[in-house]
Amino acid sequence: YSVPTAINEVVKSYAPGSPERESVLKTYKELYNSTVDIPLFIGDEEIKTGNTKRLFPPFDHQHTIGQYHEADKALVEKAISTALEAREKWATMPWEHRAAIFLKAAELLAGPYRAKINAATMLAQGKTVHQAEIDAACEFIDFLRFNVQFMTEIYAQQPVSSEGIWNRLEHRPLEGFVYAVTPFNFTAIAGNLPSCVALMGNVVVWKPSATQVYSANVIMEVFQKAGLPKGVINMINGNSAMITDTLLDSPDFAGIHFTGSTGVFNSMWAKIGQNINKYKTYPRIVGETGGKDFVWAHPSSNPIEVATALTRGSFEYQGQKCSAASRAYIPASLWDAVKERVVADVKSFKMGSPEDTSNYVSAVITEGSFDKLVKAIEDAKASNEAEVIVGGGYDKSKGWFIEPTVIVTTNPKYDTMATELFGPVLTIYVYEDAKWEESLKLVDETSIYALTGAIFSQDRYAIDFAAKALVNAAGNFYINDKPTGAVVGQQPFGGARASGTNDKAGSILNLLRWVSPRTIKETF
Ligand code: SER
Repeated sequence: YSVPTAINEVVKSYAPGSPERESVLKTYKELYNSTVDIPLFIGDEEIKTGNTKRLFPPFDHQHTIGQYHEADKALVEKAISTALEAREKWATMPWEHRAAIFLKAAELLAGPYRAKINAATMLAQGKTVHQAEIDAACEFIDFLRFNVQFMTEIYAQQPVSSEGIWNRLEHRPLEGFVYAVTPFNFTAIAGNLPSCVALMGNVVVWKPSATQVYSANVIMEVFQKAGLPKGVINMINGNSAMITDTLLDSPDFAGIHFTGSTGVFNSMWAKIGQNINKYKTYPRIVGETGGKDFVWAHPSSNPIEVATALTRGSFEYQGQKCSAASRAYIPASLWDAVKERVVADVKSFKMGSPEDTSNYVSAVITEGSFDKLVKAIEDAKASNEAEVIVGGGYDKSKGWFIEPTVIVTTNPKYDTMATELFGPVLTIYVYEDAKWEESLKLVDETSIYALTGAIFSQDRYAIDFAAKALVNAAGNFYINDKPTGAVVGQQPFGGARASGTNDKAGSILNLLRWVSPRTIKETF
């Protein structure tokens, strides 16, 4: 059970004059000036139904970069039967061969496909080149490499034997197919959710987010180039409710690997519950859902470090990371220094197309998201409990642009301290220094979600106290660092409460959900 030890892919700098910068900007231009026609991938067929949706950059919504085809119910059913057919060979293929395919995909992404996957992510999802690099290239490559290592660690788990008795565990794939549902905000998650399930010998029907189909198409190209047998991962698009209902109604449904909203995941779980007597096996339900991630600062903390965590944690990728900071609790003694730095930093951020690499932020993903954020900003402007201290502007004439915005509130339970917004809006509550212990209760009480959180303190007693007070408030807990940027193999990622099943993407714990071991006792 031995494979090369996984190491994290090194993040490239994209400094002016560097070859990687030239290459990614050249590819970006080529993609911008052409259109793609994205089919459904079902087995060895690439199906164009003619029922299409237009693709466009969120920062340039009148410009067309392609279209994708949508499946009807019959094609969703075909995806199921095709996956099940492919399962017959895939489930028994030696693990070394499955590993080789996904390790090759990692090498393709590290080399010849790096510019394309990054440029696609910049163009269709509105990431800056750095944000694309740490996601679509590095995090995705890391998932592929580390998952292979975790797989071998799982297979090496074997029981003891004794004289005349040989005991062993056969780590079988699940009996059926797995449904992968992936979000727009990370190309790496879109690549990981179907591929880690397939790595363990399972077959997959994958539905990427409508706003992520463009880079999902590049992911399929990479998997095919790497030699993934047709039918192991089938990518379909179309009406989400119809696709979900059709897949969850199948007796062969064996699991869901989901990242998306809490509401959608809850309705899927309810549907699985209603269907439970139909299934051959209890389905695995694995989901990462919403977040309302916090930053809490103790009076002993360094205000500049806190301010940097807030501006980077809240506004990189327009606050659309599941891990993004969106509420903060700052002691009154530090407030002036934190405020001065946050306001200055935010004012220095340029906003626009990712093609201009001096832009720090770009547009949010959809008009729906834009409207929700505008409403929150306007409500704050009108409220006597809140004040917008920087940002607050928006413009949707060319793209869905929302300025990075900071709201300060006098009410720790103010709406935007608790409601998930998924955009570049940070709300801050300033508390009295002497009440720092009580302020932690507020953080916990407001943590309906529990994905990430960060605390800042130079006082060991306070760190220990806060870690205990917030023990269930975040699945990823950062001490003196921003709450974003978990690295595969270093900070396994996921949260509980309304943030999901906490099956830790990028760890052995996640892969364990995709096997159904058989215990074999043999006497001789
Ligand atoms: N790695 C990302 C983050 O922590 C989430 O996938 O921001």
